[in-house]
Amino acid sequence: MSRIPVIIDCDPGHDDAIALLMALASPRLDVRAVTVVAGNQTLEKTLNNALKVLSFVGAEVEVAAGAAQPLVRPLTIAPEVHGESGLDGPILPPPTLKPSPRSAVEVIIDVVRKSDQKITLIPTGPLTNVAAALLLAPDIKANIERITLMGGAAYVGNWTPSAEFNILVDPEAAHIVFSSGVPITMVGLDVTHKALVYEEDIARLKAMNRRVARMVAELLDFFSQFHKRFGFKGSPLHDPLAVAAVIEPQVLTTRHLPVVIETKGEYTTGRTVVDFYGVTGMKPNVDVALEVDRDRFIAMLFEAMEHFD
Ligand code: RIB
Ligand code: CA
Repeated sequence: MSRIPVIIDCDPGHDDAIALLMALASPRLDVRAVTVVAGNQTLEKTLNNALKVLSFVGAEVEVAAGAAQPLVRPLTIAPEVHGESGLDGPILPPPTLKPSPRSAVEVIIDVVRKSDQKITLIPTGPLTNVAAALLLAPDIKANIERITLMGGAAYVGNWTPSAEFNILVDPEAAHIVFSSGVPITMVGLDVTHKALVYEEDIARLKAMNRRVARMVAELLDFFSQFHKRFGFKGSPLHDPLAVAAVIEPQVLTTRHLPVVIETKGEYTTGRTVVDFYGVTGMKPNVDVALEVDRDRFIAMLFEAMEHFD
């Protein structure tokens, strides 16, 4: 079975870092490039974090910096979740991998245009880079298999009662992506809040006695602090679930529904408005993930950790 060519667009971020590792570990995926966007932290920090994580596992992949801020709005970051560095917790060596001289948008456009197989994009941060690429080079839509993104929520948000962080940071970019006509799988909070990793899973990672698994455990030790404060029994592995959904789509149950992005509401901006009953008459445009096989997903995480030393 041929490998699935993917580009991961991320804002590391603890869960982004684990998503990168799951993608690199999978024999099903061919990671053609990693592009970075501001979100969880400033672009300088998310880029450095991506380079550090990829260097930690000796990955040789193009890493390109993208947007330092959303298309229209000022940047919102999340130090309360990811810390000042954006990857607080483990002490990682300085990166050996250097950033590409090309921008993220140039890389997305070039890699998609030149691919002999349709590319799957896996955005796990705000959609600024992806939106910009689609605006500058609409022709690439024909060579994009699917955009499987971590973002949104059919029901409640996390950064506001209405909105999930990635969509909220750049709702205009999300509108461009969701209305692009490209097939989309929305891996939102409805499933990521059920894809929890618990203390016993973190202990299991440490007991693997592997360098990378221990680093992931240290990421999760830090990441779990924020979620414990909000009453979560475990840490939601948002971004790794988007990667898992490309590796094994059956890990999610989805419904093909109309989804639009609220960009104007005083209390609702950033909401992914999902029309479950077709009352708007809009054409379905998104495969919305509603259920997750958590046990299979967690097993995939541990399988990925076996890949590394
Ligand atoms: O709302 C969760 C999402 O926002 C995740 O992608 C996390 O990394 C942050 O980017
Ligand atoms: Ca992210």
